Amino acid sequence: MSGDKPVEALSEAEAAAELERLARAIADADAAYYQNDAPELTDADYDALRQRNLAIEARFPALKREDSPTDRVGAEAGDGFAKARHSAPMLSLDNAFTDEDVADFAVRIRRFLGLPAEEILAFTAEPKIDGLSLSLTYEAGKLTRATTRGDGQTGEDVTANARTLTDIPETLKGKGWPDRIEVRGEVYMAKSAFAELNAREAEAGRKVFANPRNAAAGSLRQLDVEITKSRPLRFFAYAWAAASAPFAETQFDAVTAFADWGFVTNPRMVRIETVEEIIAYYQEIEAQRAGLEYDIDGVVYKVDRLDWQQRLGFVSRAPRWAIAHKFPAEKAVTTLLGIDIQVGRTGSLTPVARLEPVTVGGVVVSNATLHNEDEIARLGVKPGDKVEIQRAGDVIPQVLRVVEAGQGAPWAMPDTCPVCGSAAVREIDDAGRADVRRRCTGGLICAAQAVERLKHFVSRKALDIDGLGEKQVILFHEKGVLKAPQDIFRLKKNIEAAGLPPLEDWEGFGAQSARKLYSAIDARRKVPFARFLNGLGIRYVGQTTSAQFARSFLSWQSFWVAVKAAEEGGVESETYNELIGIDGIGQAAARSLMAFEGEPHNREMLAALLEEVEVEDEIPAATGSPVTGKTVVFTGTLEKMTRDEAKARASALGAKVAGSVSAKTDIVVAGPGAGSKLAKAEQLGLTVMSEDEWLALIGES
Ligand code: IVH
Repeated sequence: MSGDKPVEALSEAEAAAELERLARAIADADAAYYQNDAPELTDADYDALRQRNLAIEARFPALKREDSPTDRVGAEAGDGFAKARHSAPMLSLDNAFTDEDVADFAVRIRRFLGLPAEEILAFTAEPKIDGLSLSLTYEAGKLTRATTRGDGQTGEDVTANARTLTDIPETLKGKGWPDRIEVRGEVYMAKSAFAELNAREAEAGRKVFANPRNAAAGSLRQLDVEITKSRPLRFFAYAWAAASAPFAETQFDAVTAFADWGFVTNPRMVRIETVEEIIAYYQEIEAQRAGLEYDIDGVVYKVDRLDWQQRLGFVSRAPRWAIAHKFPAEKAVTTLLGIDIQVGRTGSLTPVARLEPVTVGGVVVSNATLHNEDEIARLGVKPGDKVEIQRAGDVIPQVLRVVEAGQGAPWAMPDTCPVCGSAAVREIDDAGRADVRRRCTGGLICAAQAVERLKHFVSRKALDIDGLGEKQVILFHEKGVLKAPQDIFRLKKNIEAAGLPPLEDWEGFGAQSARKLYSAIDARRKVPFARFLNGLGIRYVGQTTSAQFARSFLSWQSFWVAVKAAEEGGVESETYNELIGIDGIGQAAARSLMAFEGEPHNREMLAALLEEVEVEDEIPAATGSPVTGKTVVFTGTLEKMTRDEAKARASALGAKVAGSVSAKTDIVVAGPGAGSKLAKAEQLGLTVMSEDEWLALIGES
């Protein structure tokens, strides 16, 4: 894989493939983090992906993708809530990791503003709360809308939920507030409230949240407002946008005004004037961190003078006038007791370090990931060694290095699956390079894969079956009544056929929970296209990709017909090219789908599953627009809006946005500088229009 190569060693073709892989990996990680409240990557791994993406873009600027992660913040708003556009984008913050980074930040600002050395450059400094940001619109002093960040441009309308938070005033108090303003801040859950909530959830047999941030996000984004109301969510106001009139001259005064208007603001916010004071503040907050009532992951500095903020403005996704100074990951030294192998849903074997339990940043850690065998070789680690581990935020701890070698024997990765005994191999790609991961070749005969796949199938992001969690999946699998997804819908019959007592007589069930489980299962006999596809757990076809296929094909049937045709026709076929022409769909996803379809046991499973469930058609976001159902390609420079915005509008009107021109394209919107796509459109005799003509067509001129 070119994923392991240093950026300087990449050829242009490798770089392009790498950018595609990174765009997808980052989008999937964003979706997991922002939409499902379940991070899948460590912060460090995520940052590494973004850094690599940036480095490749810097070396090959021409290869920068239209969907480059560099230009995106967060993830698109999820389903279930109405979408709402922010009147000004909700931005992210650049990060500083060292004192030098902070000093550079101040120097850059001085240079940008042309400040003489004697001019004081004051900042506010405040903790960076690990929650989720929320934008609150006030009109004539009344709360009229609350919107999550979403992708920074468009978020979810969670007004009814936000109204349940006592820290969010319904009506502004005091005076001096602008007639219209969006007050922004962070929704979070106190550590103590999080512990209580998780204890209650565990007691009730429900899934627990990984950390307070996820609990806050999951609690705010509840379709049932009563649930949000029952959760102890808090809110700190720290920013604003789109004020209809000025109301303060400095950041500090603005936040002080919020407090007068009835908001809760962070009492730890201070105004400071030198880089030395900044560093002292950082150290002070870091020392207080473990004892604070909420999770923080750094401190934020903002230029105090608002006229200077105005002049400094923004660069791509972050303001020039603010920076987040992140805390380093927490580390500890302990003994590696052994290395276990975990077999994942796609059969990948992951070595996991079993550790002498040790406290890292207030959390007891007894496992850490070792990623893969190459990583173990790189670290030169073996059981018995003393190792340094690191825990960053909420994520899986990592082994960093060997501190002191022990007497243990060298460790070798097994070449058979520890669960089913099938051969475990490293796939070799077209260029003859071995995959970093070893995979079990047992497929569905491997119990570990079956259980992991089933867990994924019923998880929140897929079929989301209440009462069917890891514990139950393992139990039913052990009893032999749940082997494949379709068995979920045949559970009652399978239990009878196996000669087992009815579920209500099983230990830990009872009449009520058995009834509840069966009805939760029945409720999923109709399932949305994207959830169903994601649930199948096909490699490279995760949540984001599934949603893209659903938006593009609308009906499961037409989608699967295309997958079959592509499988039969191969990579030269028109249908294959149609699949990879869909915006955001890469070759890896298309090929993986085709390989899935090509396996007889997958086809059998799918057929059996479709006898039990009905896959609902994706409803285009808007019908009756002149572009509903039309396939549109944007090319060249757009002048009235960004390409992302244009695509989002088109999708919202029910159009399919494709990345390449084919005979199936209905409309090509070409701006200045359009090249080969325009030429191809003309050659095929397609409808080509200007940006203005497009806007007129969709009624926005
Ligand atoms: S200011 C334009 N202040 O950090 C500047 N953000 O990494 C807007 N955050 O999206 C952000 N505590 O969700 C600001 N005291 C604080 C914050 C804070 C947490 C979050 C916020 C933002 C993210 C950026």
